[in-house]
Amino acid sequence: MEFGIKVATLDKQRGSCVVVGVFESGKMTDAAKEVDRISDGYLKDIVSQGDMEGKASTALLLHKIPNLQCKRILLVGLGKEQEFKDHAFINATQTALRALHNTGATDCAFFLSDIPVPERDSAWKVMQLAKLAVESNYRFDKLKSSPEENTKALRKITICIGDRADLPASKEALKQGAAIAHGMNLTKDLGNLAPNICTPTYLAEQAKELAKTYKLKVTVLDKKEMEKLGMGALLAVARGSHQPAKLIVLQYQGKGKKEKPVVLVGKGVTFDTGGISLKPAAEMDEMKYDMSGAASVFGTLKAVAEMNLPINVVGIIPATENMPGGSATKPGDVVTSMSGQTIEILNTDAEGRLILCDALTYAERFDPKAVIDIATLTGACVIALGNVATGLMSNNEELSQALIGAGEYASDRVWPLPLWDDYQDLLKSNFADMANIGGRAGGTITAACFLSRYTKKFHWAHLDIAGTAWKSGKEKGSTGRPVPLLTNFLITQAKESNK
Ligand code: BES
Ligand code: MN
Ligand code: ZN
Repeated sequence: MEFGIKVATLDKQRGSCVVVGVFESGKMTDAAKEVDRISDGYLKDIVSQGDMEGKASTALLLHKIPNLQCKRILLVGLGKEQEFKDHAFINATQTALRALHNTGATDCAFFLSDIPVPERDSAWKVMQLAKLAVESNYRFDKLKSSPEENTKALRKITICIGDRADLPASKEALKQGAAIAHGMNLTKDLGNLAPNICTPTYLAEQAKELAKTYKLKVTVLDKKEMEKLGMGALLAVARGSHQPAKLIVLQYQGKGKKEKPVVLVGKGVTFDTGGISLKPAAEMDEMKYDMSGAASVFGTLKAVAEMNLPINVVGIIPATENMPGGSATKPGDVVTSMSGQTIEILNTDAEGRLILCDALTYAERFDPKAVIDIATLTGACVIALGNVATGLMSNNEELSQALIGAGEYASDRVWPLPLWDDYQDLLKSNFADMANIGGRAGGTITAACFLSRYTKKFHWAHLDIAGTAWKSGKEKGSTGRPVPLLTNFLITQAKESNK
């Protein structure tokens, strides 16, 4: 998709479509008023006749507006003016994009970033608009024998802003929004791929591909090398599968070698059957998304590299299947992790924490500024926070606050859960240093407690994306989350360390 950004007024606007807004009160935005003025009250008539009530999630396409140079106007309902905040702005933009996809217009000028949104500047609106526009073109039809041609894809979007002073920041924001969406596209593609295609080996190949495109350093460790490192927990999960496990390391260097990196660790279980503690059959296909944490690390690195962000980032991806094979790990097995701590595996379906703990120990060697792991870790997190917020648990308040802030800015929110010592007792084992499960109560927190035993040497945050990484049902598909959150966090980190 091609983007343009300019300081523009409506009267000179040619092209195939212009998007303007109207509130539920009938109040028009400045751009809409301008259309109305040029067309001698054409819009006012439409509003007063009740053809456009300004309700949120509605849009009306108008043709042949008197005196106007462009072919169409898309009038978008903005809802109540007092409620026009982040959510309403995003909703109006999505409504407009959806409506545009049903028209013959392949290019369009947006006059929405002039509408005031409390606490948000022009850059924020431009970033969101660019991201949503690229997202609206996303299709996953690689696996269909004859995919429908996307003839109505939007090819060009011009974002019109009112104030010349906003132009430099808005141009920057445009690049950021597009880079985030390109990263999300990669994350979505990897997540949506069938699990017989997206195996640990496939992920390793994709890492090499990404490294080639963006000049990243890539290292892939195989079973032998992981054995040498003593990654007994990760390898215990891989034992039941015919697919070889991989530990993938991607390094992006946007600053000098001395600058400590932010390390992202993504859970890469390319299919989670539960292992010997087998999952029930219903919706088990969705466990192909159990590598969404890994996919979000790929997507974030792509976005960061596309922006040439001045920061160092390392991605670590433990990748494996969790299968019930003849040599699979059994409940009761005791294994030794890379850290030396022993684990009694009481439930082989709590496999995410087992591969993450070794990857987190491995992260120590990068002398990280902060480590963030991203994982579809617990069904309990879906019960706690639904499909809206990602679960956040951390051993550092400043890191925690930075992630909450980045999530709010990106509209990809996280919500904190406590990591108090009181929960640690639930992981007691009679036979090893710890068990890999803590019972049903507080399942998201006890999973994080388990990880906390491997993250004492650095600032660490854990993101449980079990409820946010994909959608079920008719709209089944990856969401690309939390790429917006992570990328925004890194943009802010880069800004702060370069002050
Ligand atoms: N990948 C699952 C978590 C999951 C389940 C994410 C459903 C999204 C939807 C994870 O490996 C798992 O199976 N966790 C268990 C842990 C339990 C055995 C302590 C769970 O949540 O049931
Ligand atoms: Mn599992
Ligand atoms: Zn899992």
